[in-house]
Amino acid sequence: MDIFDYSGNTLFCEKVKIEDIVSEVGTPAYIYSKSAILARYRELKTAFQDVDTLICFSVKSNSNLSLCKVLAEEGSGFDVVSGGELFRAIKAGGDPSKIVFAGVGKTDKEITYALENDIFMFNVESLAELEHINVLAQESGKVPRIALRINPDIDAKTHAKTTTGKKENKFGIDFTEAERIIKQSALYQNVALCGLHVHLGSPIYTVDPYVRALKKVVKFVNNCRDAGLDIEFMNIGGGYCISYSGEKVIGPKEYALKILPLVKEMQCNLILEPGRFIVGNSGILVTRVIYTKETVHGKKFIICDAAMNDLIRPALYDAFHRIWPVNTAIRMPKVENSDKSPLKTGMDLVDIVGPVCESSDVFAANRALPRVKEGDLLAIFSAGAYGFSMSSSYNSRPRPCEVLVEGDRYCIIRKRETYEDLVRGENFT
Ligand code: LLP
Repeated sequence: MDIFDYSGNTLFCEKVKIEDIVSEVGTPAYIYSKSAILARYRELKTAFQDVDTLICFSVKSNSNLSLCKVLAEEGSGFDVVSGGELFRAIKAGGDPSKIVFAGVGKTDKEITYALENDIFMFNVESLAELEHINVLAQESGKVPRIALRINPDIDAKTHAKTTTGKKENKFGIDFTEAERIIKQSALYQNVALCGLHVHLGSPIYTVDPYVRALKKVVKFVNNCRDAGLDIEFMNIGGGYCISYSGEKVIGPKEYALKILPLVKEMQCNLILEPGRFIVGNSGILVTRVIYTKETVHGKKFIICDAAMNDLIRPALYDAFHRIWPVNTAIRMPKVENSDKSPLKTGMDLVDIVGPVCESSDVFAANRALPRVKEGDLLAIFSAGAYGFSMSSSYNSRPRPCEVLVEGDRYCIIRKRETYEDLVRGENFT
């Protein structure tokens, strides 16, 4: 059985019925599978085992403590982009000596916090940041490892809002500036400049952008070595894709096949920062239908109790997520695409929307869905990455609970927020 699969017309996560979970925890609820998370992590590790590789799970994709703990126990490192993420990674049992810290705007406070915890490496995104780290390192008596994040000006052919490696993006340092930094590296006595970092965007559906970026980087590594600076670590970031529609997409083996020869040529240790690949298809968001309504124009709306504040990807990126009733006799198609063939019996063409007062609060528009009624449950698939971690309490909606399934057991790993949680910290003047 797949991790999330139907048996006897009802959806399971591993060996637990989804409806059994939500009858206890309510809706909306994020439900994750521990075996799926571990399987994905191991798949990636195996694919890249030919070189010395550190996998740093990208905390921003899903920052739940229990979920990070599962990965920490498996030996994973962590990719963090804020003091808060560093706090979470350490609290989850993450080994600081396997933590890398990226982000264009690290504050002195965050840098100091990371120095105090002896993290593995800073991925530095500007000369100004390098200068701050150099000064703060001297004050703390530490010599942190530094990777320069290179902006290679490569189009990863992903959504404009998740592209990071083009010259107009705020991320990283271009080759000219990086070369200047390398040449004057003697000025930065309190840091160990020993790595390069590239993250092109997310999700990336072909290996080609990685190859093109790394080919440029190979040359740069050689220049660095000629200038007397050894580059020991090559961090190629994240961006490894998952299938949102059921269509076959490339996997770790395909990435590794093309990427590893270039890393070997560089003679570097490798760092990967996967987020989506590990957790994306390891989680779903379950929601209940509150109302159905049909307009005089014949438009059918399914109004459910989850909304854009719980899962913002469709509203923000027009992202596609499969949605199917938790209980249904109609089989979910293996692949869902923009097929506009006539509707099968028992199906409706609907807009699946949430209660938030924004027209963009739409999970799916003109979607063929088995007929549902008030009270029915819907599963929104591929919601494990950038789901809860991007949620908010907009419209003063308490955020959902999170549940982790392991075999025939499940555990609430984050309680549903309450109205009191919504106002915690607020004071009357
Ligand atoms: N490393 C760095 C430096 C990153 O900025 C990111 C993601 C990753 C690694 C992990 O990428 P992944 O393996 O998960 O693709 N909110 C968007 C995705 C934004 C990604 C931001 N950076 C979405 O929902 O699609």
